[in-house]
Amino acid sequence: MQYIPSKDRYSRPDFYKRCGKSGLALSRLSLGLWHNFGDNVLYENARSLVFRAFDLGITHFDIANNYGPPPGFAETNFGRILRENLAGYRDELVISTKAGYDMWDGPYGNWGSRKYMLASLDQSLKRIGVEYVDIFYSHRPDPKTPMSETMGALDHAVRAGKALYVGISNYSAEQTAEASGILNSLGTPCLIHQPRYNMFDRWIENGLLKVLEANGIGCIPFCPLAQGLLTNRYLDGIPADSRAAGNSRFLKPENITADKLEKLHKLNVIAQSRGQTLAQLALVWVLRHTSVTSALIGASKAGQIEDNVKAMENPVLNQDELESIDTILSM
Ligand SMILES: NC(=O)c1ccc[n+]([C@@H]2O[C@H](COP(=O)([O-])OP(=O)(O)OC[C@H]3O[C@@H](n4cnc5c(N)ncnc54)[C@H](OP(=O)(O)O)[C@@H]3O)[C@@H](O)[C@H]2O)c1
Repeated sequence: MQYIPSKDRYSRPDFYKRCGKSGLALSRLSLGLWHNFGDNVLYENARSLVFRAFDLGITHFDIANNYGPPPGFAETNFGRILRENLAGYRDELVISTKAGYDMWDGPYGNWGSRKYMLASLDQSLKRIGVEYVDIFYSHRPDPKTPMSETMGALDHAVRAGKALYVGISNYSAEQTAEASGILNSLGTPCLIHQPRYNMFDRWIENGLLKVLEANGIGCIPFCPLAQGLLTNRYLDGIPADSRAAGNSRFLKPENITADKLEKLHKLNVIAQSRGQTLAQLALVWVLRHTSVTSALIGASKAGQIEDNVKAMENPVLNQDELESIDTILSM
């Protein structure tokens, strides 16, 4: 299938923001390949998500070694799309991958050792079919490996030409300050931090955001829509084609409690008063911090990406709206 990207994809210059104090600008929304890129979905749908995202100006695609199922398959699928349809556009794309979770058998297939991190990156490059990724992450801190070893592996990836920038994910404020100090001393500054952040999980407001700002590190919150909860998806029940109706280990029907639903309906009233969908409100809320560069969304349908990109048509929340949101969330 031939794909010609939209000529208008860069028609909104304010859709890009520099990541921390680096020179790299990211699209305000990035597409994550955690779900909907495994062997359990139609390849054509996965491909249409990438096409729609790119047509709408999304330049950043986030993967990890273990995304699938099976682990590795999201990288393989993305590599195929790149090879068959986007080969001429590599320099317009920011491709990220990570290592840190369980990937292969034995003591070297997990966590943060130099042995695992660098072998995993080599495997990722093969699966995606590229010579380098733009961002290579430590997916989670490893309590049993010296931080200097994991950061040393990230630095090595850059020096070996296998990554352009490095990032960390799921590190606490204290761990981030330590990691950033080590990376600075090695001459490979930390570009970006990827934490979970959404209206239902605000932990980064208690210290991490300050550390990121002080160190000039960009922030890319994952699950900004709480896996679909903070959208209109579940307002009237659980649709058969939703993540919660599938066999997700991470979003189960019992997570959609009466208390959450009450909040979602109240938040939806605020969204409607702004002429937005609930998803759009949840995204501009996450993007309101100076150090938040991009929100890392997932999607199962191209229309969801269209809806989410439109959030940027009304990006500023006023003080009254912010206070009303706080009140609803603290109920
Ligand atoms: N670093 C880490 O440890 C880590 C952990 C988790 C995720 N991540 C990254 O974050 C990315 C995003 O995670 P996520 O998929 O959980 O993010 P999310 O954006 O919070 O949730 C995405 C889901 O929300 C629903 N949705 C999205 N837009 C919608 C819209 N406009 N209207 C209605 N429903 C909408 C879809 O659900 P349905 O599928 O039900 O349609 C979609 O699959 C991942 O792909 C991955 O790259 C990183």
